[in-house]
Amino acid sequence: MANLTGKKILLGITGSIAAYKAAFLVRLLIKAGAEVQVLMTKAGAGFISPLTLSTLSKRPVYSDISSEESWNNHVEMGLWADAMVVAPLTAASLAKMALGISDNVITATYLSARCPVFFAPAMDLDMWRHPSTRENVRRLQAFGNHLIPVGHGELASGLVGEGRMAEPEEIVEHLRRFWAKAQSLAGRKIVITAGPTYEPIDPVRFIGNRSSGKMGVALADAAARRGAEVTLILGPSGLSPREDSVKLLRVQTAIEMHQAARDAFQGADIGILAAAVADYRPQEAAAQKIKKTGETLHLELVKNPDIAANLGQEKKPGQLLVGFALETENELANARSKLEKKNFDLIVLNSLQDEGAGFNYDTNKITILGKDNKIRKFELKSKTAVAGDILDEVAALS
Ligand code: C5P
Repeated sequence: MANLTGKKILLGITGSIAAYKAAFLVRLLIKAGAEVQVLMTKAGAGFISPLTLSTLSKRPVYSDISSEESWNNHVEMGLWADAMVVAPLTAASLAKMALGISDNVITATYLSARCPVFFAPAMDLDMWRHPSTRENVRRLQAFGNHLIPVGHGELASGLVGEGRMAEPEEIVEHLRRFWAKAQSLAGRKIVITAGPTYEPIDPVRFIGNRSSGKMGVALADAAARRGAEVTLILGPSGLSPREDSVKLLRVQTAIEMHQAARDAFQGADIGILAAAVADYRPQEAAAQKIKKTGETLHLELVKNPDIAANLGQEKKPGQLLVGFALETENELANARSKLEKKNFDLIVLNSLQDEGAGFNYDTNKITILGKDNKIRKFELKSKTAVAGDILDEVAALS
């Protein structure tokens, strides 16, 4: 289990009674090897003394956005940190963060932060249940921030229910797990195929399909963020990976994709085949643009190589291969038979029957089948979140 040695953590404390636990949290973070910079709202400072926190963190506490030091620092702190943790986060501060209102040192720093942000809400159960709170939590998560779930138990009001801030130990554990996962593919060489292929009919026309490449590009970026060395073999797609470390090879046809994938897979640990490869190509591409002279036009099509099946045959012990299946009927049975036939270790099934899943959507709904006969079904999520689920399964096998 990774520890927190050298991690720079901004801890934002807002005005909840749970703020008294922040002292324990600072101590645990420091003990785990982290550097902690405390930020407090004025309301937070009403619940726990800044002197306690500056003593424990061995750094000055910033609580007033209007002080020259805090104001100048909020951008710098946002760049300095490896993570920002807001704990406890009140309903009011949650709402401000969800709307981008930067009227105190925590909300202003949050807007400047480039690092992952974690939030541990603390409030009474009815506030926690309120639709506006639900919506604000959903918004913060949709922006990519990480919720540290509330606990169930006795609340300061005397009521019993959900809304307690997670215990400091749980918060530290959450951060540990995050960083362990963040490096779960460190040093692994991964080849990903993505996008459609275009098979030329003549110099201006082709046979292709509606694949956008979004899922494969999201996988490439997510794998690179987890420390993998990624080669992305991308068919004609308007997209590009965001992560600079991804080695991008652009190809047009199935033959080109096949060649590039074979070369790259030889030295790789993992292959993920997300491309929608055209099954057939015109036997010969005409050298000149075909004229519309006849009433009918016959194209002779020949089968393209099955890249996945070939890599499956060439797979060496220790290498992993992950395929995709887009099915319209007998989905599970078809996916399972593809897993076996192509010698995949995992197959990701997405169904065209699911609203929001498949070509060109930003979301996907998948089921992952493994060799172990285990079936894992996932909710409809953004393709970035789906990429995370797929890579979790890959990391667990590799
Ligand atoms: O056979 P089907 O096209 O449904 O198989 C889907 C899986 O096989 C996907 O992972 C796809 O990327 C891969 N495939 C391939 N080369 C082909 C056809 C499919 O790599 N010619």
